[in-house]
Amino acid sequence: MASTTRRNFLALTAVALAGGSVAGCSIIGGAGDALTDSESSETVAPLDKSRTLVAYFSVPETVDPNNMTEDEENSTHVVDGKVLGNTQYLAQIIEERTGAEVFRIETAEDLPLDHGTLEDLALKQQETNARPKLKALIPNLEEYDTVFIGYPIWWYDLPMPMYTFLEQHDFSGKNIILFSVHGGSRLSGTDRTITEKLSDSSVIKNALTISRGDMGNAEAQVSDWLDSLGQ
Ligand SMILES: Cc1cc2nc3c(=O)[nH]c(=O)nc-3n(C[C@H](O)[C@H](O)[C@H](O)COP(=O)(O)O)c2cc1C
Repeated sequence: MASTTRRNFLALTAVALAGGSVAGCSIIGGAGDALTDSESSETVAPLDKSRTLVAYFSVPETVDPNNMTEDEENSTHVVDGKVLGNTQYLAQIIEERTGAEVFRIETAEDLPLDHGTLEDLALKQQETNARPKLKALIPNLEEYDTVFIGYPIWWYDLPMPMYTFLEQHDFSGKNIILFSVHGGSRLSGTDRTITEKLSDSSVIKNALTISRGDMGNAEAQVSDWLDSLGQ
């Protein structure tokens, strides 16, 4: 399969907004995804940093900050010479601002770094409704009241390892705050999917979604969003 560029995602999103679907998936974009959607704004009580966790899944497609291909640049943000995945970068900003602990969600098997190979694998996992095994589960989830959950959009949905993550933990009674990075198709309904799956949790409505093309501005966006949550 040819590598999917940002332009493809934008074009496919336009199809979705016009009521279409791609590869058998229903695609939802736009409404409810906006960072400053006042109708869905919701605040949470001041966070106790020792009882707050930031859990994220992110796949930077290279570890080398030099001579990146366009696909590698699209999936990364370099901070002080260190290559971070885009979602990883948002997790780091949230960590710095809130003082929360961080947990990285990783698959037991290393994922391919080559973009086309990663896309093909992700699509196959989605088509087979796979639940890729994770390297580790959060060992001390009971110590947290609030969990920020971050992920990229893959094929207009959650990456399948995120389904494993959501199903293998008990988040009941916890506040869940979502953040995500996309290449054009915004949240694609993933906030609704998570709200439905975690029906015994309190999933806040104003999930953060940032375009991978807007990472240079992410710090301000995350800060505004945390302000809007009352943090
Ligand atoms: C396998 C795969 C599928 C993707 N599918 C979509 C998509 O459906 N819609 C979209 O907007 N972006 C899509 N993207 C782009 C990612 O959401 C974007 O590059 C994001 O920044 C990756 O975050 P990360 O660096 O934290 O892994 C896809 C990327 C990959 C690798």
